[in-house]
Amino acid sequence: MPMSLPATIAWSGDHETGTLQLLDQTLLPHEVVVLDLDTAEGVIDAIVRLAVRGAPAIGVAAAYGLVLGTRRALTAGGTFATAIREQADRLVAARPTAVNLAWAVERCVAAASDLQELLREARLIHSEDEAACAGMGCHGAPLVPEGGTVLTHCNTGRLATAGDGTALAVLFAAWREGRRFRVLADETRPLLQGARLTALELAVEGIPTEVICDGAAAGLMARGEIQLVLTGSDRVAANGDFANKVGTYPLALAAAAHDVPFYVVAPLSTFDASLRSGAEIPIEERDATEVTAIAGHELAPAGIGARNPAFDCTPAHLVTGIVTEAGILRPPFVESIKAALLVGR
Ligand code: MRU
Repeated sequence: MPMSLPATIAWSGDHETGTLQLLDQTLLPHEVVVLDLDTAEGVIDAIVRLAVRGAPAIGVAAAYGLVLGTRRALTAGGTFATAIREQADRLVAARPTAVNLAWAVERCVAAASDLQELLREARLIHSEDEAACAGMGCHGAPLVPEGGTVLTHCNTGRLATAGDGTALAVLFAAWREGRRFRVLADETRPLLQGARLTALELAVEGIPTEVICDGAAAGLMARGEIQLVLTGSDRVAANGDFANKVGTYPLALAAAAHDVPFYVVAPLSTFDASLRSGAEIPIEERDATEVTAIAGHELAPAGIGARNPAFDCTPAHLVTGIVTEAGILRPPFVESIKAALLVGR
């Protein structure tokens, strides 16, 4: 197991010749490979196959991808405005659920009238995400119960963001403050972000962690073995409904049934106030083979069908609070979200 990891996302060089480095998360925890990309196609491919993943991380990667794509398109002639628009549309189509992707790309389009300005904006989005992670960690750390057990789902750490993470940033901050607790990491089928990535990040930090099957969580809550659930989010609607990795909704139902506090941890860049409720959030459907096989090994009978929604939507009434860089939002979320977006953005 690697005991330290290279940066999830890095840019080296200037707007004319610089390239994007992405840690290939499909190979973790067994192999550490850094991709060096100089085309938007390469970035889109990395986003689609989850070499880079996690809502804030794909937003930052796509912003740099826009620099690469626009630069390449300009060598074939045409205006900056046409080139950036075409590249933006291609990048935004890579994955539909995490709003950070479209948010970051459209922010760059609005801010830049040349390549230098475009790279400056991408770097700004990168550094702002780092700061947002620190803010979420700071606001959320007091929620972590001393001596308790925290359940988390998917991967929400340094691999999913440009900083310390969302839900995992809260755990890292609490651990640094001296709180002692244990973590249960849902393995997170089908692509096992919990078992492969969250377990790795927590182990590197020395935080006691056990991986569980996703289906074990409710039973452990019923036995009083979990005191807090922390997850990230890919998109939060105006009313507090939110999309996250498939399997989050059943966790929230179980948490409500057993009086376990359920907190979402998300930066303001993950909020989409244009959507009234979670019913409007587009849910990515991925290839069925991700369900019928694990790491290329076929499990199901040849030719069997499978469904693979990559995310689900949790209604706001199951959420205790939403930890953001601007503080912890409480119900009624329509009001607390509106106020946070007015002040924070
Ligand atoms: O399909 P993934 O691995 O990109 O899904 C990631 C998640 O569901 C995370 O919980 C989410 O992006 C928020 S945490 C940064």
